[in-house]
Amino acid sequence: MNAFIRTALRSLLLVSLTVTTALADEARRDLIIDTDPGADDVVALLLALASPDELNIRAITTVAGNVRLEKTSRNARLAREWAGREDVPVYAGSPRPLLRTPIYAADIHGAEGLPIPVHEPAKGLAPGSAVTYLIDTLRAAPPKSVTIAMLGPQTNLALALIQAPEIVKGIKEVVVMGGAHFNGGNITPVAEFNLYADPHAAQVVLASGVPLTYIPLDVTHKVLTSQARIDKLQGLGNQAGKTVADILNEYVKRDMEHYGLSGGPIHDASVIAYLLRPQLFSGRSVHLEVDSREGLTFGQSVPDWYDGLQQPKNVTWITEGDAQGFFDLLTERLAKLR
Ligand code: RIB
Ligand code: CA
Repeated sequence: MNAFIRTALRSLLLVSLTVTTALADEARRDLIIDTDPGADDVVALLLALASPDELNIRAITTVAGNVRLEKTSRNARLAREWAGREDVPVYAGSPRPLLRTPIYAADIHGAEGLPIPVHEPAKGLAPGSAVTYLIDTLRAAPPKSVTIAMLGPQTNLALALIQAPEIVKGIKEVVVMGGAHFNGGNITPVAEFNLYADPHAAQVVLASGVPLTYIPLDVTHKVLTSQARIDKLQGLGNQAGKTVADILNEYVKRDMEHYGLSGGPIHDASVIAYLLRPQLFSGRSVHLEVDSREGLTFGQSVPDWYDGLQQPKNVTWITEGDAQGFFDLLTERLAKLR
């Protein structure tokens, strides 16, 4: 083969590699995960951190919620360590909701925020607050380029939007684990914990006009563990599979007893699964409002499912999920970790 053809083929190979890399980068989603780990948050973090081909995780930002901020931040750093992803910075955010008195869910997640042994992770927090990080990052981001996975109370993003409303332009979409409608709430008969813990923050995010998708209890209670599914995770034979199986074996007990279910939901992990495989889920564009009046309906999410109010549709409300598809994805990705 003469030199000319060799050079031409080499150039062609170089071009195709460049295009492939560019397409792959294009396919990768810039993502910030805002979270209050939390048992199901850790499962969500491990799923996300095990998916670098699709998710370019810019940072993990933490908020008080399931437990106090010091512990949610420590647990986020633990998840990062367990995933072998200490390249991802963790920024601590708000230690309390916007207005209401703080509430926690240590009775469900454990005093340390996880139902398994914890330790002080080797790598610390990134300097600066999560709110400042959100403002600086979203201000500098190209239009509609950054996705936010919201796995706890929406306080950090609400504070960032209040201080710098213009950051909306940098947000591609916000996918929220929160809310409940068709099957009632989990912290009150009508309210789901993340919204109940800071309904004012949810109202600020709703009012900002960012593209919003809600993953409520309506769908997370249809994507349930089973002993066989947990055993399959345990059977992966790596630390990640054992850690998640140990977490789930404890975490789901309360929901199984409370709802009389044969398995429990892993609420936050459905947000990451939605980002990775949206085809596993379905829902409808609706007008959503969140109630912040003191009393029985405090923190209630009200999606206008039949459009009776004829108000602007401001969220996609997910109600269906493929449970087996979810667990196949979770198992496949955890197998990639150590
Ligand atoms: O209601 C479930 C949600 O509240 C999950 O995000 C769980 O981690 C808690 O934060
Ligand atoms: Ca959470």
